[in-house]
Amino acid sequence: MKILMVTSEAVPFAKAGGLGDAVSALSRALARAGHDVRIVLPRYYCVDRSKLRLIEGPLGVPVGVGEEWAAVYTSTLPGSELPVYFLEHERFFGRDGIYGDKAEPDFADNPERFAFLSRAAFQLCRKLSWIPDILHAHDWPSALATVYLRHAERFSEFAKTASVLSIHNLGYQGVYDKSSYPYFNLPWELFHGAGFEHFDRVNLLKSGITAADCLTTVSPSYAREIQTPDFGFGLDGLLRFRSPDLVGILNGVDLHDWDPTMDPYLPQTFSASDLSGKQRCKVELQREFGLPMDPSRPLVGMVTRLTDQKGVGELFGPLSGSAYRICSDMDLQFAVIGSGESWCEEELRSLSSRLPNFRAQIGYKERLAHLIEGGADFFLMPSRYEPCGLNQMYSLHYGTLPIVHRTGGLADTVENYNQETGTGTGFMFDHLTPRSIYDTVGWAVWAWYNRPAHIDTMRQRAMGRSFSWTRSAEEYQKLYDRALALVSEPPGPRAGASGSGATRRIHGPEAQ
Ligand code: ADP
Ligand code: GLC
Repeated sequence: MKILMVTSEAVPFAKAGGLGDAVSALSRALARAGHDVRIVLPRYYCVDRSKLRLIEGPLGVPVGVGEEWAAVYTSTLPGSELPVYFLEHERFFGRDGIYGDKAEPDFADNPERFAFLSRAAFQLCRKLSWIPDILHAHDWPSALATVYLRHAERFSEFAKTASVLSIHNLGYQGVYDKSSYPYFNLPWELFHGAGFEHFDRVNLLKSGITAADCLTTVSPSYAREIQTPDFGFGLDGLLRFRSPDLVGILNGVDLHDWDPTMDPYLPQTFSASDLSGKQRCKVELQREFGLPMDPSRPLVGMVTRLTDQKGVGELFGPLSGSAYRICSDMDLQFAVIGSGESWCEEELRSLSSRLPNFRAQIGYKERLAHLIEGGADFFLMPSRYEPCGLNQMYSLHYGTLPIVHRTGGLADTVENYNQETGTGTGFMFDHLTPRSIYDTVGWAVWAWYNRPAHIDTMRQRAMGRSFSWTRSAEEYQKLYDRALALVSEPPGPRAGASGSGATRRIHGPEAQ
């Protein structure tokens, strides 16, 4: 199959979170399975142009009034032959930040920037004389590509191309003032008809959920959760309507970047059969964070965006968060790397100055993320909701036992400890509160001191769990087949669709 990934992030070129890891890893796995996979993303300032090759001739993109012009650069995804295309547009992407910066966390012209990416994907294919079977968009930034396919491009050489939209995080929908709509170059009747309208504003993710032939999200539990009002962020009704076309496929661990036996960021590599390197990583982690170098103390690590989604209010909230009590009451060490909301960055600095056993580094540092995964004994992830979560899978793989809220992908990947039998791969709590985090970290610390044999066997078990992208890629292939079958099927009532009057090709506002 020819598969085009339209995305705002792909490691190692541009990453703000797990989306970048997931897109590159999935693409690599699909390419390994024999598919012709290509990736298109913006050429942000962080992508070094000197390492790319310019493709002759500019690209004209029909957005706004007339056309916008882009230069196209290309390279390959490391560890593969897979072509990556970068769209250069100085006004849109010639600045620091993928979605925003400190001064402006969500750039005001994001609807234009990402509409441009979404429409340019088609022009790029024309330029390359390469028409994909599958156009795979990810999250709100490229959701519009599925709308352009359904409402504009399918009447051209893209007639047989099917679209898939992956929802990596429903909490971010790309909602903007409707004054951005004319820039998309779509008729006003589609403002309502294609599902853009959201309380009189434009909702990019909603339009993609309405338009895409098939939908995925990144774990089976999250696929169920987003169809409920508690996790649906206002789109649960639409997602229930689209549920016949929605599947949850778990992300994997990309061994190209995350393998403790070869990880170049670790001071010493290790494996389940020889954990001596992990001891060395722990000492190095303690040294690097200025914690006492004591192998006997349990070390709890965290690598996280500092946003409400990650449970940082319950953990670090200055008045009610449990981190201070955890560190003052328990004989443990705590090392965090994170960046995000400024109140939280401030609080982490403050805790570091007040507690001898708590240290935080503020910023985004790949090497330290690997060192924490390698050197910590436990990994804390008290997310309010978690579509999949990669860090807990990296932790399992690095023998660092996760302490998690039982939600989304965390529920699908971690097995709770049973202190009678010693089974499990981590420690879980059911309701996110400061108290439940406190109790569950306390439980893990209790096991560390009182059930060391259980900790050892859990570690072995965790490292033996396989989260393979190859398996996930097989599920995506099945979904792609389904999407292609939908496109070649004549319009009419859809087999298996729930409710009356549901048709395959029209997912209009009546669906909500
Ligand atoms: P999300 O995408 O919601 O942030 P994931 O667990 O799926 O959560 O992925 C997070 C990714 O971002 C991981 O690869 C993690 O190592 C990385 N990451 C997050 N914060 C930092 C940081 N401060 N420094 C380095 N890497 C980070
Ligand atoms: C999002 C989610 C995270 C998921 C990642 C990759 O950022 O918050 O749970 O692992 O996307 O799919």
